[in-house]
Amino acid sequence: MWFFHKVRYATTRWMGNFRNKHLPLKTLILRVASDQNQLMFASIAATIDSMQVLSVCRVLELSRKHNIVRAATSIIRQRANVRYYSDKPALFSSTQDGQNVVNIFNNTYIVDEFTNITPSIAEKSGRKLLKDPANPLSIIKKLIESNFPPQEYTVFDPPEPAVTVYENFDSLNFRSDHPGRNKTDTYYLNSDIVLRTHTSAHQGHCFRTISTPGFLISADVYRRDEIDRTHYPVFHQMEGARAWSRDDFATEEELIAKINSDTLKIPSPGLQIIDSNKQFEESSNPKQPGMSPELCIALSNHLKRTLEMVVGGIFTSIRQMDRDSADKEAVQIRWIDAYFPFTAPSWEMEVYWDGDWLELFGSGVTEAPVFDMAQVPNHVGWAFGLGLERLAMLLFGIPDIRLFWSTDLRFISQFESGRINRFQKFSKYPSTHRDVAFWLKEGSDPKDFHDNDFMDIVRDHAADLVEDVKLIDKFTHPKTGRHSLCYRIVYQSMERTLQSDEINALQDNIRSEVAKTFGVQLR
Ligand code: PHE
Repeated sequence: MWFFHKVRYATTRWMGNFRNKHLPLKTLILRVASDQNQLMFASIAATIDSMQVLSVCRVLELSRKHNIVRAATSIIRQRANVRYYSDKPALFSSTQDGQNVVNIFNNTYIVDEFTNITPSIAEKSGRKLLKDPANPLSIIKKLIESNFPPQEYTVFDPPEPAVTVYENFDSLNFRSDHPGRNKTDTYYLNSDIVLRTHTSAHQGHCFRTISTPGFLISADVYRRDEIDRTHYPVFHQMEGARAWSRDDFATEEELIAKINSDTLKIPSPGLQIIDSNKQFEESSNPKQPGMSPELCIALSNHLKRTLEMVVGGIFTSIRQMDRDSADKEAVQIRWIDAYFPFTAPSWEMEVYWDGDWLELFGSGVTEAPVFDMAQVPNHVGWAFGLGLERLAMLLFGIPDIRLFWSTDLRFISQFESGRINRFQKFSKYPSTHRDVAFWLKEGSDPKDFHDNDFMDIVRDHAADLVEDVKLIDKFTHPKTGRHSLCYRIVYQSMERTLQSDEINALQDNIRSEVAKTFGVQLR
């Protein structure tokens, strides 16, 4: 029968017992299902057709909740997403009147000198990891959201990452020369539209339209960044904010009294907290000029107690899920002064984890002009931003940020909505490096050569097969004065062993693209 198709799978080491190439799929699934050995199953299933796996599971009447069924469903869904995206029109095209355009998010954007979006980034924007309930990022998202009372905080998941330069920067008080606006740091569709670099880009919209006093925004955000184990050009943030209108109170004392009574209602967290309790400091972390010290202190307290409650809630849930860590000591957090263009005073909250202080939240008291620009003048409040990958890597023990994008069943099958478990490493495939060295154009300054431009070429040609890229050498010829740069690319797949032919081909493409794009002379 059709489901007795022979299993086609590579003969890699981790397949252990299941090395027999001619084992029928049905027998295979029965064996693994009775074994409940998800890892072994996933290793095998990664190389066979998930549709077939599902059909056999149906015949075997395995429950929809069974790990095998979930894993196969998840991989089909992810592949469908990728396919859905690749059916769309080419990213770049020209119209009948010869206008070059970017086609994305069911829209067309006229290309100009700012356009720097690349196909690999466009593809990522179609994946929508937060929509997969079993992706560790959405597990964390849901867990955090569950700590916020829904009658006070509305959950808002913005659809597409294209926002105006105004929303991303101007409406948040970014100076016109702020380095974040540079093309070297931000993906532009054209000079008016960027891929949001942070979820704060939606603050204005939410302050204006959401009826609860607070909201939570979670989304994918984009930054042209280096490539390594903790940096990826697309990552996910959660933004939270809370506001009070001065118009609802006859006097400022009443407003402050209300904020303070709201603060008292926040459950206490069971954390060890290090805080100087100096809510602002004129020289290093000033309050806003138009705000009274009492109001600033009331808002800061509400903000800090809220975020402490969230962190407390997360770690309590983890203790409940994971009995091994039940008697671990209280989690330590600390508050550090910070700076953001749209909050004052501002802080970062750090958590002590595995011997290190890790920054979790950026936060602060929202600046009055941000409310004015959002067309809700006369409001006061606070905001925070949180990197979901960082927290997920820490809580699940996920060692490489690329894994969140993996469609490998050995990864996907380990997670389930509503549960935080330790990630079980599957074998790390070997890494290999290759260098790209070149002479810059005569008379050009190495400072004008931007790492991130190089990174994008690597990304477009080798996508997730690259673990790390670093500038390893800079050299000026003593006689000619010409400058030479050398970048090291570390190739490593999360899913298989790369063959040197394959790496050499990628490397050749990258080299010629670098030469062509930057007019450099390869060495
Ligand atoms: N948007 C900021 C960032 O990405 C984080 C932040 C959000 C800081 C809200 C303060 C308030 O770094």
